[in-house]
Amino acid sequence: MDAIIHHAGPLHGTLVVPPDKAICHRAVLAAALADGQTILQPWPAAEDCQRTLEAIRSLGVSVERTADTVRISGRGRQGLCAPQEALDCGESGTTFRLLAGLLAGQPFESTLTAGPSLSQRPMRRIVEPLRRMGARVEGRVAADGSQEVYAPVTIHGRHPLRAIRYEMPIASAQVKSTILLAGLSADGRTTVVEPHQTRDHTERILRACGVRLHREGGAVSIDPRPLNSPGPLTLPRDFSSAAFFVVAACCAPGSRIELSGVGLNPTRASLLEALRRMGAKVHARLTEERWEPNGSIVVESFPLQGIAIDAEETPGLIDELPILMVAAACAQGTTRLSGLGELRVKETDRIRSMVDGLKCLGIPVRLPAADAVEIDGARLVGAEVESAGDHRTAMSLAVAGLIAEGQTVVRGAECVAKSYPEFFDHLRAVTPPSTVKTVDKA
Ligand code: S3P
Repeated sequence: MDAIIHHAGPLHGTLVVPPDKAICHRAVLAAALADGQTILQPWPAAEDCQRTLEAIRSLGVSVERTADTVRISGRGRQGLCAPQEALDCGESGTTFRLLAGLLAGQPFESTLTAGPSLSQRPMRRIVEPLRRMGARVEGRVAADGSQEVYAPVTIHGRHPLRAIRYEMPIASAQVKSTILLAGLSADGRTTVVEPHQTRDHTERILRACGVRLHREGGAVSIDPRPLNSPGPLTLPRDFSSAAFFVVAACCAPGSRIELSGVGLNPTRASLLEALRRMGAKVHARLTEERWEPNGSIVVESFPLQGIAIDAEETPGLIDELPILMVAAACAQGTTRLSGLGELRVKETDRIRSMVDGLKCLGIPVRLPAADAVEIDGARLVGAEVESAGDHRTAMSLAVAGLIAEGQTVVRGAECVAKSYPEFFDHLRAVTPPSTVKTVDKA
């Protein structure tokens, strides 16, 4: 699919973006392990979330789904069944990695498979700590002689696992979550030490299920114990999806957009802080603070200034870096982003896809190091750009297209379905008629 985007002028409207994908995966996995029934509502249409739901079904968990609600009857930590077939995680990295943690503590064998892009993404980061915990884990090894491990991965689970203290070499919420989920089946307290704080959605859902977790500085510890269902949960709206509209409204002069029910977890919403430093007029108001904080965001356009983002800040806006690069392109002066190494191993190399896209749109971009980008704010001029099969690149470049003069074509835009199938409809809702078109390719 191609998305054909014209310069939009001011953006106006009120939007409700889809439920949070990262929280949804965790709520499903916790519900599967819990005793009792969990009701999740509203249920997202994102492809990745269906993968996690299908996986727990294959592990014997009963799932009833209506249009926008899912009822999960948990089987307890010891009640899952060995799957009859390999568990296909599609392109969902969070499904793959978190499920591996959960399966490592089950007394059966299971295999996780992945789609073409996820099969190229590194899995050694989870395989190594799970092996240290005593699970036998075998993956496909790299052909280039490196120590890297890729999907498919087979896990010969063990119960109990060995409790470990693990110093993560990278700041990754997925790796932390894998180890914490494995820690539920360990023989004592498991501790994960993060180099920089990452999103704490796993800790929050486990606490909601009655699990005890302790944080001391950069270390998070978990004591194994049975999980109780958290009961009915309302999933907050996805901050990472809202981010595209937040930046669009910041950058298109004369705009005002309001978003409601959006997750505002402080470990996840650092984009707002970065935009404020750039001079943006963004107001967030918390309306719910239990479990996962959420509330409304109101954004009005205002001229932005370039800033510096360093490695410590990147985990709090890891998925918002592509759209932050678009904000940088619209700002006055230079924005310097460093500590971006993890962007190289997302659905695509997001440094490459965003640098290529912004350059096509006329923006001066430099790469002073392999994990750093410098962007000079300049006039965006419409052009043909490539999604590189990456949902966040596609949506970021579509937003850039709204600001750019003339017409922008985003090729391969169907990949937005991974996290946000409604994206182009929502973009149409806040732009004048005929600004946004999508054309299916044969
Ligand atoms: C995620 C964590 C991040 C993020 C990914 C989802 C999660 O990955 O990029 O989209 O839900 O835990 P890393 O933890 O590997 O940085």
